[in-house]
Parts: sequence; structure tokens; C-alpha cells
Amino acid sequence: MALYSEKVMDHFTNPRNVGKIEDADGVGEVGNAKCGDIMKIYLKIENDIIVDVKFNTFGCGSAIASSSMATELIKGKPISQALELTNKAVAEALDGLPAHKMHCSVLAEEAIRSAIKNYYDTHGIAYDKAQFPDPHED
Ligand code: FES
Repeated sequence: MALYSEKVMDHFTNPRNVGKIEDADGVGEVGNAKCGDIMKIYLKIENDIIVDVKFNTFGCGSAIASSSMATELIKGKPISQALELTNKAVAEALDGLPAHKMHCSVLAEEAIRSAIKNYYDTHGIAYDKAQFPDPHED
């Protein structure tokens, strides 16, 4: 079996939603402790709905594919749904990632959470801090 699924290869070679949103409502940037790679996510939010999302990464191919898929999964969705997105769900949507590449998909999940937290913080919206635990180190 090939190391990477066709979906991973597709999102890696043709990533969706790459770039920057100049007037973003929330921006999240996280680093991966394991490899030192960085991910940045920009969100445009209207009435609690993520109407646009873009990402930039200094990450590997799996990070690019994961972010591309993750942005597709949250675009047009309510914030509450985006907060529930796990890296496992992203990996499943990609038809799997090799075990040693699962940590790359964590970048996308954490950057989305961080961007939503930034949106809440910059817009004076109250939230339950328990929703945003410190990013894990593994
Ligand atoms: Fe760093 Fe994949 S090896 S994000």
C-alpha cells in the first residue's frame, strides 16, 4: 500500500484555502514542538459562522494536506462545530495518515482553536476557558 492516500496527495499537491485574509476576525498561530514547523490560520466570521478561512504553513506535506482538509471541513460551519474538529477527524477525512505523521495534523486542529480564541478575545466575547486547554506538547 502506498504510504500516502490519494486524498493526502491531492490536498498536498493542490491545497485548498492557502493564503492570508487581510481583515481576518481571528488569527491563530501555533508551532509543533516535535518538528518546529509553524501553522497560521485566518478566519472570517459572520454571525458565528466561519464564512472564510485561509492558512499558511511552514510545515511538511502532511501538515499542508491536513490544513487544506481542515479548512474545507470548517468553511461555512458554525464556530461550535469547528471547535469540535479533531486531528483524528481530519486524518480520517484524508483516508488516513501514517502513524508517524499524525502529529502534523495536530497543527491544523490547534491553529483553528487558537484562531477562534483570538476571535473571542479581540471581539470581547465571553467563553469557557476550559474549551481552550494549553496545546499539548506531543
Ligand atoms: Fe512538521 Fe509534519 S513534520 S508538520
